[in-house]
Amino acid sequence: MSIQLIQQYQAKVEQIIRYGGSRNEGSLRKPFQDLLEQYARARNLVLVAEVEMDSRKGTRIRPDGVLKDALRQDWGYWESKDEKDDLEAEIKAKFNKGYPSFNILFEDTQRAVLYQSGERAMEAAFSDPKSLDVLISLWVGYEPKEVAEFHKAIELFSAEVGGLAEALRAVIGEQVTGNQAFAQALEEFLELAKKAINPKIEMADVREMVIQHVLTEDIFMRVFDEAEFHRENVIAQKLTEVAGTFYKGETKRNIHARIAPYYETINARASQISDHHEKQKFLKALYESFYKAYNPKAADRLGIVYTPDEIVRFMIESADHLVFKHFGRTLGDRGVEILDPATGTGTFITELIEYLPAQQLEYKYEHELHCNEVSILPYYIANLNIEYTYKQKMGRFKEFENICFVDTLDNMGFEHTGKQLNFFGLTDENAERITRQNSKPIMLVIGNPPYNANQANENENNKNREYPEIDKRIKDTYIYHSTAQKTKLYDMYARFYRWASDRLDKNGIIAFITNSSFLDSKTFDGFRKVVSDEFSHIYIVDLGGNIRKNSKLSGPLHNVFAIQTGVAIAFFVKTEKKGKNPAQIFYVRRNEMELATEKLDYLHSTKFSEIKFEHISPDKSNNWLNLAENNWDDLIPIASKEGKSEKSGREPKTIFKMFSLGIATNRDEWVYDESPETLEAKIKYFFGLFESEKKRWTQSDKKQAVNDFVNRSIKWTSELEAHLLRGTQLDFSNEKIVDGMYRPFVKRPLYYDTVIVHRPYQQPNFFPIGRKSAENYAICVNVNGKEFNALTVNSVPDLHFNGDSQCFPVYRYAEDGLRVENITDWALGQFQKHYKDKKITKEDIFHYVYAVLHYPAYRAKYEINLKREFPRIPFYEDFKKWAAWGQRLMELHLDYETVEPYPLKVETLKVSETFRVSPRLIARKGRGEIEIDTQTTLKGVPAEAWDYRLGTYSALEWILERYKEKKPKDPTIAEKFNTYCFADYKEQVIDLLARVCTVSVETMKIVKEMP
Ligand SMILES: C[S@@+](CC[C@H](N)C(=O)[O-])C[C@H]1O[C@@H](n2cnc3c(N)ncnc32)[C@H](O)[C@@H]1O
Repeated sequence: MSIQLIQQYQAKVEQIIRYGGSRNEGSLRKPFQDLLEQYARARNLVLVAEVEMDSRKGTRIRPDGVLKDALRQDWGYWESKDEKDDLEAEIKAKFNKGYPSFNILFEDTQRAVLYQSGERAMEAAFSDPKSLDVLISLWVGYEPKEVAEFHKAIELFSAEVGGLAEALRAVIGEQVTGNQAFAQALEEFLELAKKAINPKIEMADVREMVIQHVLTEDIFMRVFDEAEFHRENVIAQKLTEVAGTFYKGETKRNIHARIAPYYETINARASQISDHHEKQKFLKALYESFYKAYNPKAADRLGIVYTPDEIVRFMIESADHLVFKHFGRTLGDRGVEILDPATGTGTFITELIEYLPAQQLEYKYEHELHCNEVSILPYYIANLNIEYTYKQKMGRFKEFENICFVDTLDNMGFEHTGKQLNFFGLTDENAERITRQNSKPIMLVIGNPPYNANQANENENNKNREYPEIDKRIKDTYIYHSTAQKTKLYDMYARFYRWASDRLDKNGIIAFITNSSFLDSKTFDGFRKVVSDEFSHIYIVDLGGNIRKNSKLSGPLHNVFAIQTGVAIAFFVKTEKKGKNPAQIFYVRRNEMELATEKLDYLHSTKFSEIKFEHISPDKSNNWLNLAENNWDDLIPIASKEGKSEKSGREPKTIFKMFSLGIATNRDEWVYDESPETLEAKIKYFFGLFESEKKRWTQSDKKQAVNDFVNRSIKWTSELEAHLLRGTQLDFSNEKIVDGMYRPFVKRPLYYDTVIVHRPYQQPNFFPIGRKSAENYAICVNVNGKEFNALTVNSVPDLHFNGDSQCFPVYRYAEDGLRVENITDWALGQFQKHYKDKKITKEDIFHYVYAVLHYPAYRAKYEINLKREFPRIPFYEDFKKWAAWGQRLMELHLDYETVEPYPLKVETLKVSETFRVSPRLIARKGRGEIEIDTQTTLKGVPAEAWDYRLGTYSALEWILERYKEKKPKDPTIAEKFNTYCFADYKEQVIDLLARVCTVSVETMKIVKEMP
């Protein structure tokens, strides 16, 4: 892999020896282990130190390291010896003891010997990096035949799971109509599930539970030889009963015949694993890959991913430390009730079982360890893991009676807080369990709640369930205290934080590992305020890994869950005697470029008490991180959420009264086009299909959920579905085709209408629909927390016009069509007073603001503030000059299609008639060129033109980017309306580029005139 790695290893060894270490196995083993780990990682393998296992001779052996893959299959072994040992004799002794010889590496820090397939395959001296590299590469590259076969089986199984589930769905569909007993059992189960789990549960959910039950009946049980489980467990019993009404005879034989071969392979491999930790890991990995293959959408929605042991252990030890520090108790003490509200495979509870002293465990296990799970499969696995771990530790089996099959977020009836939940449970016993759990005062809520933020795309039809009660709590607390506009705070992890905060007893701790966006995202400002009011101490271990913020990072390499969002562990401590002071906040962050494995090592080897936390003092706006030190708060706010919603008619103390995001169409490919004709055709198609679906729905029995019913070949959203239910009539109107400001200097015909545009926000009040003559212009600024930029528009902007575009118009239009000034009299007064000039007008202020927003020194000084909040405006000397700059900038930016074109040279190659010209649209900045297509190049672009940037791209690059030919993502558009061809627009684009080149050069000229 890399000789360099070996050389680094050698240097490390030199150092150890020089600084007093010895050459014995103990001191030199770790650097070599690190080296092997690096080779292993590159092949997605891990090196697990000292796992005990049964040898082929039946003896117990414990190699120094075992090379494993994600499914915990052994790929090879490593045995380390001392320089003083006789390596050959040691090898012989190990083989006599029964060590496997299919792939084993022996070494004594001087020499390495590799055995493969029972034969001596290679030897290498440590002094010869090249040979050592080859030897280690061979070792990590050897995939044992059984392992390869097993992977193949799992792969086939994963590919087959979807089909099997489909087959079962079909069988169930038939049985519901033809099998009275089954239909009745299913109906009863649904009623119970609605009462106990979540009232929003539908028949489809229950059918899926039955399928999962049937498909996994043996597999997960056999791994632990717990065939009795289904007979014992309260939920399994009920599902067995339901399934038993149809899953028998031929149906059972047919399905079983398809799954049996896979199960046999899986069971055979499982029986090879004797270490119980390894067995659990095998089960979890199998479950994760099964679930993702079986139902990828649900896996995403529920956050189906298990938590690495290092994290779980660290969180438990830390929670124990904090319980002691703040309340003088330990986790093992009686009365310290612990709950994992989203237990998944039960990792936190099993680790607690391992962690708690044996003499305290029995009582804890019976009375004070609690957990919940809403999905049937992890629920089964958690049961198995928990009971198995207990048996391993205590030497006897005991049913775990404190796991509830319930939707935690829908269960707000905790008795000790005075609310009594009154229902008849899913099974009496499950109901009893929930009631029992609800009556307990919880001191520690610990776990890894799910965190798929709202689905990215509503057409995915993968929405989180609704939680009216918890969402109301969020609205009244986190959102109430937020100044952010777009409050996407209903995502799952915020809900779990809200739930856990309410669930805790007077004294207690939440220990969660979640998405870390609550630390610095603008929309979580209210959350930060509320938690610092509700808790007394907050400790954060920020594990970083936010791939979206740092493109140098990679999910699999740097993120502990191999995901895209940053991750943090948080401990929120609530104390009865807190008083009014806000929480003390302690924060530590791992190095940005640290690898996920290094982060896990850190958590594994670090005690909470050793961590050097930084004490954070939040600023007035409830920011915790990246605090800016400047006079921001003294400047004039451009707008505010309170000012906007002020209904009394009183004017806000801001420059603009109203503002709005650009329109979120949620179906760009449908509502925009280069050509008005194609746009018209698309809209007519869309409306036609909508109308026919509406008709079909009206005539249907309406038993199916509407989102499952409709033909999804057009892009649906829940709002559009609601329109269908309401019977909205959609008619095409030519009047509604307007110029949409799609991207900087890219206008596109837009069908501007409140139904097909998913969220028009306030834009129809600024740019009224169907009234092309209503004059207005507005400043759009980027509020997505990335690089700040501003650009003015005079027709309706898109949500992503120049980032996430928040738009401040000079006018707005009242319902009666009258034009109203949007710049406040208050602001006018402020400016006139400050500059002692009564002649200043609102228009001047608009220009002044526009100039300031372009001023590089302003952008640099307030960089952090501008990423988080709406701009605030300082009073600079010489108002008139600034206003004049602003006016010039505005005219340039609004009139970009009519300014003089920059004299670029158009160089066109002479080509034969058969030559196929292909579009390029590539900027060659260094050469001052733009390659238009394989025939034409624009030359003489001045260097400063590229400097006029709006976020990711310069103005010129925005144009290049938007005019490229791309395959539409929407399948219907791709199939029916993919008419765009760059060649049709070539001349228009060349002209546009030349004009925007002028705009860029002139803009930079003005900006440079600024002080
Ligand atoms: C990230 S996983 C938990 C991982 C767990 N610590 C482990 O290692 O397996 C989240 C789990 O929460 C469950 N879950 C999601 N929403 C839930 C809800 N509302 N109530 C209870 N459990 C829920 C999911 O089914 C999933 O198993």
